[in-house]
Amino acid sequence: MRIGILASGTGSNLQAILDGCASRSIPAEVAVVICNIPGVKALQRAESARVPAVLLPHQKFPNREEFDRELVLTLQEHRVDLVCLAGFMRLLGPVLLRAFHNRILNIHPSLLPAFPGLHAVRQALTAGVRVAGCTVHVVDEGTDTGPILIQAAVPVLDSDTEETLAARILVQEHRCYPRAIALWAEGRVQIEGRRVRITGAGPRPDHTLSSPELTD
Ligand code: GAR
Repeated sequence: MRIGILASGTGSNLQAILDGCASRSIPAEVAVVICNIPGVKALQRAESARVPAVLLPHQKFPNREEFDRELVLTLQEHRVDLVCLAGFMRLLGPVLLRAFHNRILNIHPSLLPAFPGLHAVRQALTAGVRVAGCTVHVVDEGTDTGPILIQAAVPVLDSDTEETLAARILVQEHRCYPRAIALWAEGRVQIEGRRVRITGAGPRPDHTLSSPELTD
């Protein structure tokens, strides 16, 4: 399976996926990394892993449709089977969603459907929830609304700031995203309406994870 990764920033999730492919815990290869922001660390990570890195600055395109068209062409050129958004801070339009229908995954730093959209960790702190987390889901036309594959829960501590909570959630993201992609690559993911069924799961399903603080 060939993965295309779209990233806009630091790319720590990208790194987790690259590492998973290198160690074969994900039976797939990263075919291309596409970034929309020049100079970001995600581009360097792709280059260090000797994976094709493509810069497509969105503001150079007249509109979202043209930008999406170029994304689709680039992904098709690299014969991508699955698209993974890894901190990609652009909404996708119908051109891309149609070309890769039900073949786009996203990771979001909240337990969806709570706190979709921007500043999810800040939203969780403002709402005063005691458990936060992250979600890997299939992308549909809504904002963070698609079928959910994997979630991990993280406790919210009284002392947490947006930075400390985001950092603990990120640790779980790096477990969840490679796991979700491996399940996909193994052909174990079935989308049934709004629900995802993971086939061949053992008695302890590997798609609901908790950080150690919650299971101690
Ligand atoms: C991650 O926390 C990811 O969940 C979030 O951006 C961060 C990217 O970090 N994505 C979103 O908020 C998407 N709505 P990374 O660049 O180090 O992988």
